Amino acid sequence: MKRLFIIFLFTLLLATTIGIWSYSYFESHEEATIETSRIREYSTIPSESGMFERAGFAMEYANMPLDQEHQRKLKDYYDNRAFYGAPPTVPHPIEEGGIGSKACLKCHQNGGFVDKYQAYTPVTPHPDKSNCVQCHVRVKSNSFFVPSSWVSNTAPSTGNQALKGSPPIVPHSLQLRENCLSCHAGPSAVKEIRTTHPERINCRQCHVINEKKTVDIGTFKREIK
Ligand code: HEC
Ligand code: HEC
Ligand code: HEC
Ligand code: HEC
Repeated sequence: MKRLFIIFLFTLLLATTIGIWSYSYFESHEEATIETSRIREYSTIPSESGMFERAGFAMEYANMPLDQEHQRKLKDYYDNRAFYGAPPTVPHPIEEGGIGSKACLKCHQNGGFVDKYQAYTPVTPHPDKSNCVQCHVRVKSNSFFVPSSWVSNTAPSTGNQALKGSPPIVPHSLQLRENCLSCHAGPSAVKEIRTTHPERINCRQCHVINEKKTVDIGTFKREIK
């Protein structure tokens, strides 16, 4: 009886040893997995990453022939806004039932020529703001506003370069304007501000923000003391 008990004890010990060893053996051969929930999300600075959003289109824009007949002008761009910086009004009919972003993004996400409006679709700088008609509306009346003392703001001037041939400064703020290529490149880009070099995708490497006007100081002479 005593011997039987000892044999039983040894078998049990052997079985557990084999069990534990094989468990750790197979465990060590498993593919390593990363528990994604444990990785902290590091986000990039939004205004910088937005700049590269349409980078995939840069070469296409650079090689595209220019359609002289259907160019948008800066005047039309401003005329379509109540004041500088205001969301542009929708110059075409809004299709029935089509108020969701999908209805608008089928044209405004990547642009393209629309026969019935005889124009290139301006590319939206913010495809993520899905409720488009919250901000973009049709003009229904021109007599709604009564005259008041409110003075409208004006657009900053362009062509502000330190020297002839230097990169002009960015005259506007970058809030909601991170995505440079959506406004400055492609066939829908406004003629006066369409860039000759969409392929240099890191725009802010050369174009700095400065909303001040640089003044001509005449011939520069260093004072020697
Ligand atoms: C069939 C393609 C198409 C669809 C769908 C469409 N648009 Fe347009 N959109 C255009 C074109 C083309 C223009 C340029 C018209 C012009 O310059 O005369 C334009 C111009 C605009 C403009 C003026 C932009 C500016 O800078 O002046 C706004 C705002 C606009 N659309 C908003 C919308 C909204 C909001 C929707 C969805 C309810 C929408 N669009 C659906 C093709 C489209
Ligand atoms: C929170 C308000 C808001 C929402 C929502 C919004 N927009 Fe805009 N949108 C603006 C403002 C403000 C501007 C003017 C930007 C500027 O001039 O800096 C603008 C500019 C535009 C332009 C003009 C770009 C150009 O080159 O002329 C288009 C096109 C446009 N939006 C389309 C859309 C579409 C399509 C949607 C829906 C997916 C949408 N917007 C959602 C506020 C909005
Ligand atoms: C919503 C459309 C829009 C976006 C997005 C946008 N811009 Fe502009 N940009 C304009 C307009 C319009 C002007 C003309 C001045 C004005 O109205 O602010 C301009 C002017 C400029 C000028 C001056 C050009 C000259 O000839 O002097 C530079 C440089 C410029 N932008 C760079 C940028 C850069 C870099 C970005 C991205 C970080 C950017 N823009 C994003 C619309 C835009
Ligand atoms: C390597 C430096 C560099 C980079 C990067 C760069 N630019 Fe420029 N950009 C310049 C210079 C230099 C000029 C002035 C050209 C002249 O006056 O002959 C200029 C001029 C411009 C102008 C005035 C119109 C024109 O083309 O002459 C606009 C608008 C503009 N750049 C937008 C952009 C945008 C948008 C981007 C990003 C896609 C960008 N730039 C990237 C150097 C750069």
